[in-house]
Amino acid sequence: MLKGKHIVLGISGGIAAYKSVMLLRLLVKRGAEVQVVITPNGKEFITPVTLSALSGKPVVSEFFTANTGEWHSHVDLGLWADLMIIAPATASTIGKMANGIADNMLITTYLSAKEQVMVAPAMDLDMWRHPSTQRNIATLRKDGVIIVEPEAGELASGLVGKGRMEEPENIVKAAEEYFSRMATLKGKKVLVTAGPTFENIDPVRFIGNYSSGKMGFAIADEFASRGAEVTLVAGPVSIKETHPGVRRIDVRSAKEMCEAAVSNFGDADYVVLAAAVADYAPESVADSKIKREGTDGMTLRLVKNPDIAATLGCMKDHQKLIGFALETDHELENAHHKLEKKHLDWIVLNSLNDPEAGFMKDTNKITIVSASGEEMEYPAKSKREVAKDIVDVVAV
Ligand code: PMT
Repeated sequence: MLKGKHIVLGISGGIAAYKSVMLLRLLVKRGAEVQVVITPNGKEFITPVTLSALSGKPVVSEFFTANTGEWHSHVDLGLWADLMIIAPATASTIGKMANGIADNMLITTYLSAKEQVMVAPAMDLDMWRHPSTQRNIATLRKDGVIIVEPEAGELASGLVGKGRMEEPENIVKAAEEYFSRMATLKGKKVLVTAGPTFENIDPVRFIGNYSSGKMGFAIADEFASRGAEVTLVAGPVSIKETHPGVRRIDVRSAKEMCEAAVSNFGDADYVVLAAAVADYAPESVADSKIKREGTDGMTLRLVKNPDIAATLGCMKDHQKLIGFALETDHELENAHHKLEKKHLDWIVLNSLNDPEAGFMKDTNKITIVSASGEEMEYPAKSKREVAKDIVDVVAV
């Protein structure tokens, strides 16, 4: 699994740095090409000579080599890496990563890394459980970093508790799991819709809804992180970043979303419709701003928009079609009804009655209903975790 993989091993200044030697040896033994980047403090704990002898490459620590002036490009390293593992990651390094404080080569490489980053924290138990460390860890998780949790045991301070860096064998296992997960959907094509649609009334007004796109984007990213080729049709949202494996098509109205979805449907293997599509649009769009003067009120005539899910449901051939149901009452009953009516294979129910579910939130609480009638209920989780649950169920 690791053969031929390019791995940047980042080492920061903690006593657990001695374990990084074993980690490096294991990675190289499994056929990975490893480039070590070490912080200035890291070198106080372990010598670059050992690391360079084991990796077969000069160890990078400074932005340039003092006597030759040779420049070390963190951007090139970031592009080269298939995976960056930071082990040990001290509280200070984790804090810098979470806040983008790029004052050493390890952090600039982290900020330039295009692929997955994995962190194995190591520190004293009080430092680990400090709210500031936990906040930074939560930020890294949110940024998509894999955290290989420290274990509990005897620490260098003599105290006993959580904070010991995970054993090198288990960090290697986590890296192997990551690469095998990456490969599970290789060659598969996925279409996802996300966000709201805006239906113009005049040049300054529209009918819209509160969808932020967070749920759909998390699903697109999750499929891409498992190696799938993803097309994401996104309504007007403010989210900028997506996984590099996601091709994004921006649309505004339900009609545009429908056209983009239909034209990308044919060769898709999985189609997830997480967008909150406006069911109605104004019959006509005024060319200039509608004025208030001279009227007591106004009537806006609305016409039905296409139902994208139902349209694709009728076109379905080999595709697995997954819809969402956003409900306020008779939740399960309505979800079953939509599943059947739109010819879906699964429907993901989220209810606006759940305080941790629905529009704009970072969390969601779902029940996945299958075409055979099975209902799988999940606790509230981050949308990233919810996306994992959905992909685990539908893409087996
Ligand atoms: O974007 P976030 O802020 O993260 O919020 C996420 C979400 C709440 C928008 C998402 O989890 C969700 O529930 N999306 C579906 C919302 C919705 O429109 O549900 P619905 O029950 O009205 O529609 C049922 C299904 O048909 C959905 O898959 C929907 O995308 C689809 N549909 C609906 C109408 C329409 N004209 N065309 C469609 O394809």
